[in-house]
Amino acid sequence: MLRNSSPDQYAVFGSPIKHSKSPIIHEQFAKQTGQDLVYTAQEVSAEYFSAAVDDFFANGGQGLNCTVPLKELAWQYANFRSERAERSKAVNTLVLQDDGSILGENTDGIGLVTDLVSNQGISLKDSSILILGAGGASRGIIEPILSQLPDNVVIANRTVVKAINLADEFAGTVPIKGCDFDALAGQNFTLVLNATSASLTNQLPPLPEGLLAENGVCYDLAYANEPTTFVRWGQANYAEKSLDGLGMLVEQAAEAFYLWRGVRPETQLVIDSLRPQMKS
Ligand code: ATR
Repeated sequence: MLRNSSPDQYAVFGSPIKHSKSPIIHEQFAKQTGQDLVYTAQEVSAEYFSAAVDDFFANGGQGLNCTVPLKELAWQYANFRSERAERSKAVNTLVLQDDGSILGENTDGIGLVTDLVSNQGISLKDSSILILGAGGASRGIIEPILSQLPDNVVIANRTVVKAINLADEFAGTVPIKGCDFDALAGQNFTLVLNATSASLTNQLPPLPEGLLAENGVCYDLAYANEPTTFVRWGQANYAEKSLDGLGMLVEQAAEAFYLWRGVRPETQLVIDSLRPQMKS
């Protein structure tokens, strides 16, 4: 097949998308690995998602990231999905295959685990993990977390039935259960992950005292220029580390970049380069 010499096209679709850091991240990955590609951020609402993706791939697009509120639609759009994406019912990365079909993958959970384990040196094996929230963000991280063989996982949610159903769905070798926030009284965990969207409105789920074990770690899947409300909660509760989701963001992007280009970029440099900008 004849191909023109213009760079391969990649993009992130979402709404809102204006503040997305993905173009900067992928630009740095491309520069670092000597890959010739263009990565743009495009405002796409759920209503126009399917037409916009058709158009993107028909016009030379090679791979796409999808963010809020499009991950479930991307899952539906993919012609086939990895096992992980299948279970998470959400796709954040679409990959054009040689035969023209579209693979759906979810790199969010691997991004989180890589940031925790490789960047932060936090082993999840035999840990007791609390996941706050039972929406799409939680669903996307559960399988990669379970694959690290923690001792047990609890999912706590405002709407308890969602937490119970999600835990049931992922039941297997690692004990996992769902509950509401009140049921957390008297329990403690070595890792508390905030996967609620509460941070976005500077809110915090009601968390009992003593929830964090000694030397426990807090991790907010969200990130912001300032420490999030949950990161502050972790600091106030003597967390050994209280982290936001910037590392996860860069690591999920690196995993997508690898799927698209077959090359693994160096991530720490990129995380470091974004951090000072976020504080300003
Ligand atoms: P996402 O894809 O970001 O996970 P979602 O599927 O809408 O978005 O899920 C949002 C999650 O944040 C849910 O678990 C929600 O709790 P409910 O299921 O009870 O709605 C949780 N959430 C949002 N705002 C919250 C708040 N102020 N306090 C506690 N939980 C909150």
